[in-house]
Amino acid sequence: MKRIVILTGAGISAESGVPTFRDAGGLWEGHSVEEVATPAAFAKNPTLVHKFYNQRRADLALRAPNPAHLAITKLQRVFPGQVTLITQNVDDLHERAGSTQVLHMHGELTKIRCVSCLNEATWLNSLTTETACPTCQATGVLRPHIVWFGEIPFCMPEIQSALQDAEIFVAIGTSGQVYPAASFVDAARMNNALTLEFNVQITPASIRFDETCTGPASVTVPAWVEQLLAS
Ligand code: OAD
Repeated sequence: MKRIVILTGAGISAESGVPTFRDAGGLWEGHSVEEVATPAAFAKNPTLVHKFYNQRRADLALRAPNPAHLAITKLQRVFPGQVTLITQNVDDLHERAGSTQVLHMHGELTKIRCVSCLNEATWLNSLTTETACPTCQATGVLRPHIVWFGEIPFCMPEIQSALQDAEIFVAIGTSGQVYPAASFVDAARMNNALTLEFNVQITPASIRFDETCTGPASVTVPAWVEQLLAS
């Protein structure tokens, strides 16, 4: 049985209209990471942090999965092996394309978490410092279910186990600049997996992959999936 591990980044959702982080016009060009994406930022100015994620949550509702998300769903359904899907993305476009068991290592925009009772809940609306926790009813205790810089990514034990067993490792639409995700290709290589990169351009990480396929993910990923399923 073949085992494939797929890691996706912001580039897979770019053609759905979700901004990337480090490309021209990306999110980190207009916002400072220190102001909106760290625990210290949230402690200092929760209203600003809520506003940033509220805008992204509202924008996400207007977006739809593209052919790259749909091709991965097809691969998960049809491939006669194991396909583990890890995403750095906080959007829900893989799920809306029909993928299940998505390992959201950087959290989910459509979820909130209570720092008091620790309950997680689906949340599609705006969040403020006044919003009451749906479980314990306390206010001032809810935060976006996002992994901020300085926090430990989710799902790491499952991810490490999948990487150890991977025969093919595929990175789609990620600049390979944020760890630990940036090191997954090295972990897969150590276990002799074939490593493939799909990106609209050559990246500083390309040298660490066996093959890089350049072009828009909405074209290259469906073509790769069809080729794999036909082989
Ligand atoms: P980046 O914005 O760093 O990189 C996006 C990558 O997608 C770039 O390499 C682009 O060349 C590529 N790209 C853009 N459009 C594409 C397309 N249509 N098809 C294929 N590739 C395309 O985003 P990530 O690598 O996902 O973390 O960033 C990693 C993490 O940094 C994010 O999860 C986020 C961010 O800070 C947190 O917020 C914790």
